[in-house]
Amino acid sequence: MNTEMLCAQSEQDIAYAAQLIKNGELVGIPTETVYGLGANGLDPCAVAKIFEAKGRPQDNPLILHIAHPAQMQELCQNIPQSAWLLAEKFWPGPLTMVLPVKDIVPKVTTANLSTVAVRCPKTEATRKLIDLAGVPIAAPSANRSGKPSTTTAEHVLNDMNGRIAAILDGGACEVGVESTIVDLTDETPRLLRPGGITPEELTELLGALEVDPAVLGQIANDTVVRAPGMKYKHYAPQAQVIIVDGNSQAAAEYIRKRFQKNDAVLCFTEELPLYEQLNPLAYGSAQNNMTLSAGLFSALRALDAPEISTIYARCPEGGGVAYAVRNRLKKAAGFCVVNAEEEA
Ligand code: TXA
Ligand code: MG
Repeated sequence: MNTEMLCAQSEQDIAYAAQLIKNGELVGIPTETVYGLGANGLDPCAVAKIFEAKGRPQDNPLILHIAHPAQMQELCQNIPQSAWLLAEKFWPGPLTMVLPVKDIVPKVTTANLSTVAVRCPKTEATRKLIDLAGVPIAAPSANRSGKPSTTTAEHVLNDMNGRIAAILDGGACEVGVESTIVDLTDETPRLLRPGGITPEELTELLGALEVDPAVLGQIANDTVVRAPGMKYKHYAPQAQVIIVDGNSQAAAEYIRKRFQKNDAVLCFTEELPLYEQLNPLAYGSAQNNMTLSAGLFSALRALDAPEISTIYARCPEGGGVAYAVRNRLKKAAGFCVVNAEEEA
């Protein structure tokens, strides 16, 4: 299959992509978080192709993308008031809600769960595409399973060339990490995955928010988890990633002492001078967490090479978007974190 590159600025290309979706084909779609691997979410055969192209385990359900918040009603039932409040405040945007599913959604989309994940993405071209296709678009992140998510059309082409019909190129993704997922099926809302909508923003609106254990630490492979995707190793380059916490000076000292020929340093822009001769890669500014989330996956992809053995990574701490960046980096590191101030 020849994967066609389409342009999200072209009405004609969006219409063509919509036709591909209607025909049951796969299309790489831009969103404000990461690129998605889209298909008609109500067509079991089209959805099955997603799992195949991605190499994704069948027990990992997909997010349905809608063009308008009200379309939640077509896919979900017993929608609580909190879902409408969240939709009003954060949609279109980087928030996914888990709600009880209606029968119209095929089992392959939800991996047989009684719930479904829905999201109204911010990217206008993609909402137009959903409108023209006339169906919700099921889309996981458009990476090969286990690899870092894709934040440019080129990343998608690298992972999916020949496996999907087309990619709608909408430029680089603004948020850069996947959407925040909140489960609204229990009494207390539960954060299943942190993202661009922060825990603080959710708590302010919802009053209470539980944080799922999978967000906080490593989950054994046989544990039953709420978001099945969270149990798999993720975002991982081939090298071992080690997060080095502590102040800039202590971290640089720690890393310089251990750095070997085939290692790499992933740091904040401000720290580049501390790693002269080590060929460091910066993924954003320590002063601006949005630059870190926007740059993280691109950087992890750039460092995904067989010759690199250890990646020493600097990682933001604290709340807001930093919480999501840290969650992704910890997963890439298999939760390997050291504190340079304690371990000099
Ligand atoms: O930003 C995003 O959410 C991107 C863009 C393309 O929208 N999509 C994305 O999809 O990250 P994916 O499939 O890579 O991650 C979706 C996560 C998985 O961990 C999956 O297990 C979880 O959402 N999920 C899907 N349906 C669920 C459900 N009914 N209950 C709990 N978790 C669910
Ligand atoms: Mg993913």
